[in-house]
Amino acid sequence: MANGNENDAATLLPRFFRHASALLLLGIFVLAYNMHSRSAIGNRAFISDVAHNEFVRGDFDGKGKLDFTDAIRSLEFQLLDLAAPTCLAALDTDDNAVIEISDAVLILRRLFLDGDTPIAPPFPEPGLDPTPDLGCREPPLPGLPEVNSLGGPDRELNDEEALSWRRGRELFGQAFSVEAGLGPLFNGDSCRACHLDPVMGGSGGIDVDVVRFAYADNGGMVTQLESGPGVSRLSIDGFNRDELDTEANVVETRQTPTLLGLGLVDRIDDSTLLANADPDGTLTPDGISGRAHMVGGRVGRFGHKASMSSLKDFTADALSNELGLTVDPVHTIFAGISDGDGISDPEVSDQTFLDMTFFVAHLAPPPRRIPDEPRGKLAVEVGEKLFETIGCTSCHLPELTGQDGPVRAYSDFLLHDVADPGRRFVNEPGVEPHEFRTAPLWGLRDTEPYMHDGSAETILDAIRAHFGEAETARVQFEALGTVSKEELIAFLESL
Ligand code: HEC
Ligand code: HEC
Repeated sequence: MANGNENDAATLLPRFFRHASALLLLGIFVLAYNMHSRSAIGNRAFISDVAHNEFVRGDFDGKGKLDFTDAIRSLEFQLLDLAAPTCLAALDTDDNAVIEISDAVLILRRLFLDGDTPIAPPFPEPGLDPTPDLGCREPPLPGLPEVNSLGGPDRELNDEEALSWRRGRELFGQAFSVEAGLGPLFNGDSCRACHLDPVMGGSGGIDVDVVRFAYADNGGMVTQLESGPGVSRLSIDGFNRDELDTEANVVETRQTPTLLGLGLVDRIDDSTLLANADPDGTLTPDGISGRAHMVGGRVGRFGHKASMSSLKDFTADALSNELGLTVDPVHTIFAGISDGDGISDPEVSDQTFLDMTFFVAHLAPPPRRIPDEPRGKLAVEVGEKLFETIGCTSCHLPELTGQDGPVRAYSDFLLHDVADPGRRFVNEPGVEPHEFRTAPLWGLRDTEPYMHDGSAETILDAIRAHFGEAETARVQFEALGTVSKEELIAFLESL
């Protein structure tokens, strides 16, 4: 619609009114700018991608033409840290390689004061940047995946939320560059590098496992190493990876769990989880305990050791520990504040952090996959009953009540000892080596290999790797006939 300006919502307003409101807004923004301490150029460090795609100069939102919202979005981005653009170069309307308030003013001038105000090429037709400097990534995919689809959001999102979710998803998939703060020590350059199966936010294969180390004395007593439990897989140029402590003699790999549905888990009240706790194993005759790991005053529920109690904390922790990106400490204490890589801290903007957290917190749980044909369907139903009768539901609770309704994760999110007594594992503050969180079972068909260390290749292997508190359940499973075992597994594969 090259000449279709007259049909624009903005142009339906009387012209003088548009002038007045534009100038008023400009005034407000200039005022805000003076009060705002962060430099506009500083924002550039948050955008690492230097892909060069076609764009129209000034067109912030990728609609293909210049309009009032482009100026507003540009100012929001620069002053309020809202609305991260996918195409940074488009913001630089005078093409001087710096994004500044005058770039947005140029748009306002051209639209409302002087139609001849020059905008640097490519303009008004889309094209490549003649001075490739700031880069221009592809605009985000139009539309969102369907609500409650695999990899989609967990509920209807309003426009603002949809924008944040989409930006969050893009950031989750984006490879951060060294210039954007990646490292110095890191395990992957994006969240997606590990959480990718079968969709963005899912689980990761054994090849991307992280590794934890500890020291065990002759009596088998495990203690943490002075250097900490982790050693980074990668480092940026000029930095050496941590040396592995020579004392380390316990090694444990950690599988990347799926993040689908975890927002619902975040929104389960502590009282619901605590109602199932039985730290001494004396409340029921089955001898099964279940211990809540309190972290920062809330029940820890994330990570194999239930070491984090909120997705916000985990996202911050992952940003700094997996990617080496620093986060403003106002959000959480679980993130690096400075990392000495020469990039000014925090390396992640507030908006980036909030968008990523919002994306992770609103990923729908994996949808059930129940076969259509009657025999398959019946097997799943029979398997579900067996799952209960042989005692799997003592820990893998089919349903917990969350703030948004039932959460069917098949976990109590408590710590149990089901580990092989003959093997040694790593402890964490407040969590014994053999204690692990009951693994949620939703999405199981797509998350092999199983158990925290990926030591079980199949679901059958995973069941056979249950000892300790789950000894009775495993023995009961082994006592089932072949067909019943298959039915139980058919049920687990339908989750
Ligand atoms: C190098 C691989 C890797 C990368 C990169 C990575 N993760 Fe993870 N993630 C893991 C592993 C392994 C775990 C389990 C850690 C544990 O409990 O010991 C995990 C656990 C999580 C959990 C808790 C899951 C649960 O079931 O409780 C969240 C949330 C999470 N990651 C978010 C992120 C975000 C957000 C990013 C990007 C900023 C990210 N991860 C990057 C490997 C990775
Ligand atoms: C006493 C509590 C308890 C009981 C009873 C129990 N489990 Fe588990 N289950 C766990 C814990 C804890 C884990 C995680 C262990 C780990 O990560 O090493 C787990 C892990 C699993 C896994 C692997 C999930 C994954 O993503 O890695 C499967 C499958 C599983 N259980 C199925 C079952 C079945 C089937 C039964 C009944 C025969 C059962 N469990 C009984 C506590 C229990």
